[in-house]
Amino acid sequence: MATTTWNTAELVQMDIEHMLHPVTNLHQHARTGPLVLARGSGSKVYDTDGKEYIDGFAGLWNVNVGHGRSELAEAARTQIETLAFAPTFFGLATPPAIELAAKLAAMYPGPVNHFNFTSGGAESNETAIKIARYFWSIQGRPEKVKIISRLQGYHGIAMGALSATGIPSYWAHFGPRPEGFIHLSAPYAYRNAGDLDEAAFVDKLCAELEEMIAREGAGTIAAMIGEPVQGAGGVIVPPDSYWPRIAEILRAHDILLIADEVITGFGRTGTLFGVQQYGIQPDIVSIAKGITSGYQPLGAVGVSDRIYQQMIEPDQMFMHGFTYSGHPVACAVALRNIQIIEEEDVTSNAAKVGAYLLDRLQELSPHQNVGEVRGKGMMLIVEVVADKGAKAKFDPALNIGPKLQAATRERGLIVRCSNDGIAIAPPLILTEDEADRLAHAIQGAVVEVLG
Ligand SMILES: Cc1ncc(COP(=O)(O)O)c(C=O)c1O
Repeated sequence: MATTTWNTAELVQMDIEHMLHPVTNLHQHARTGPLVLARGSGSKVYDTDGKEYIDGFAGLWNVNVGHGRSELAEAARTQIETLAFAPTFFGLATPPAIELAAKLAAMYPGPVNHFNFTSGGAESNETAIKIARYFWSIQGRPEKVKIISRLQGYHGIAMGALSATGIPSYWAHFGPRPEGFIHLSAPYAYRNAGDLDEAAFVDKLCAELEEMIAREGAGTIAAMIGEPVQGAGGVIVPPDSYWPRIAEILRAHDILLIADEVITGFGRTGTLFGVQQYGIQPDIVSIAKGITSGYQPLGAVGVSDRIYQQMIEPDQMFMHGFTYSGHPVACAVALRNIQIIEEEDVTSNAAKVGAYLLDRLQELSPHQNVGEVRGKGMMLIVEVVADKGAKAKFDPALNIGPKLQAATRERGLIVRCSNDGIAIAPPLILTEDEADRLAHAIQGAVVEVLG
């Protein structure tokens, strides 16, 4: 346990003067400064003044096994002492990278048996998109390049992944996006279904996909990418029949399906992988985050046997990869992390405590500014609205997000607050007592900010 004492005021000043924070209002940050976190244990983190918080966002949806795991420190230390780095370029490999690829092949459902490593989610999606195009191109179909994704989809913010991401606020001010990315509506019943029942809503979403394919031409479309449950775009849980129907349409038109399991992988939705919630089989999968529970930066892309067989066909180089593809320390930590996930069955806990937490949060449903409370496993959201009948969003000038953030932090809780609500994604080891504390803090914050 760290016993260091910190000079919080000095750290805050240094941060303001020298750090450029991602996805942050830099204007406001220069005035407020950061909340500086010094250590963590289980589902809790502590700031530099010793204040305790429930980490209700598991870092960034990724600290699945919780903080302070000495087993993972040990795995990293042992690998650093043995061989801190070797690449996977030029036919080189290390035992942890090989063992992790084999472990992922055994874990991931269906014929996804071949893995390429990256350093995170956006790199995984860049890789997945490029492999989809490569797969068609090496078969003599280089015009099959377009990528379908959904509005409110989040696939990371490197250039290719950014273009697949369907949240326009991430696009502004960064110039033209690469071409060939087309977006469908999200399966977001609360806002997009209108008066339609679930079956009719899914019919409408499928018709939209069919129309897009007819308009663009299946011969120009490489793949569709989607998160089994959309995360950063607002924890959008699709109707149960949505994915099986979409997958069937893609198959009929010979369009690959890329499952972006960067959040949903490794137990978060209450099954080991998100596709298992819906019984679908992707051709390509992107993973990251929970693969190491955030203890090391690592991502991976898995491809099916069918894609692999094509990739080894031409006598040519696969000209893609990153220096840290298959970093041995990250892979060693991932292997140990996956062992913990399996041995402690944190996936079942995510299903059980996630359902309990959803029940507790749904106590807020009658509140005049709570539009919907929804979730799957340990991915949840309390969506807030200015007018419940009209489902009107809050005027950004009211600063509802920052106010909710201050009110939750005041109550010892870290979650992701925006003008549209509070997203919650705790470590998968959360206990019911901690879920009660989390729900209580959110209820208190909503009442304080919204009355
Ligand atoms: C579904 C999904 N895909 C991709 C990414 C991008 O991952 P990274 O931030 O590691 O690049 C994220 C990040 O939150 C994500 O939620």
